[in-house]
Amino acid sequence: MAIERLVEPTAASNDMDEERIEISLRPITFTEYIGQEHLKNNLKLAIEAVKKRADGSTLDHILLYGPPGLGKTTMAGVIAHELGASLRVTSGPAIERAGDLASILTNLKDGDVLFIDEIHRLRRAVEEVLYSAMEDYKLDIVIGKGPAARSVRLDLPRFTVIGATTRTGSLAGPLRDRFGIIHRLEYYKEPEIEQIINRTAGILKTKIQPEATKLLATRSRLTPRIANRLFKRVRDFADVNGDGIIDREIATRSLEMMEIDYLGLDPADRNMLRLMYENYGDRPVGLTTIAALTGDEATTIEDFYEPYLLQLGLIARTPKGRVVTEKGRKHLQNPENKV
Ligand code: ADE
Repeated sequence: MAIERLVEPTAASNDMDEERIEISLRPITFTEYIGQEHLKNNLKLAIEAVKKRADGSTLDHILLYGPPGLGKTTMAGVIAHELGASLRVTSGPAIERAGDLASILTNLKDGDVLFIDEIHRLRRAVEEVLYSAMEDYKLDIVIGKGPAARSVRLDLPRFTVIGATTRTGSLAGPLRDRFGIIHRLEYYKEPEIEQIINRTAGILKTKIQPEATKLLATRSRLTPRIANRLFKRVRDFADVNGDGIIDREIATRSLEMMEIDYLGLDPADRNMLRLMYENYGDRPVGLTTIAALTGDEATTIEDFYEPYLLQLGLIARTPKGRVVTEKGRKHLQNPENKV
């Protein structure tokens, strides 16, 4: 079991309180959803067109990809709400057998939205059932075994799949081809993260001063989930060490205690950067070697550590592996550097 990181952009899993708060913070409409303007505009248009046609046609299947924590699940909820549809949520690893998918699909109703998180982790046999379901709303199932086995084709309701993945690269071509709308979620801009923090403060009825909002926004890795998580920790700190109001000093001390530096890196990020630099200098190093150095899985490095370090330009991807950039080296030498 890896150490739980505060800046981990994965969804809260075992903390009920945290999960409850996270759900209460989720925007429900496009208007409440801050950022991802390009995606929102495209989706609004597609949804409006479907509603206007009113001929029973459904929204194209949608594939959302990009680093974790940027709001793929949240966006799926918003889409379902704006469509006036029900949302059914599952994930690639949760669907173990083709039969599991068959039971999910046959329980859907016309117009429903099926959200499949981590869709790149669907098993091949399950994926194949999904193809024809997505393509022509038919389910091919085999009944019985041996010579008596026969295949039947069931009609399915007209539904929309929203698939989410951190990487499109590992999605099988035929599956990818079945999505009419494919969109990347981008890192948020700092002012958007500030708006999200202020919105969260409002919902949780906490006072935060603009300078503190700004400070938190710079440390949130341009990721709403992390911004909200840091906010809650800083709010705890303000309640215990002050009068509950989050000002610049409270925010600074709290972030110091969490060892989050001015770029939003935590000790695990800095450790990875340091290990790369100490062992390889500015030469390229392969993903599996980095994983061996830090003791993580290669996929963890690729999905959780690397995207933000790449985004900041602290490391770069080359054909021969990852390299620590000049900026990365400088950051290591002076992590408390003020911007
Ligand atoms: N909370 C988490 N993500 C959000 C977003 N994109 N807009 C508003 N609130 C959020």
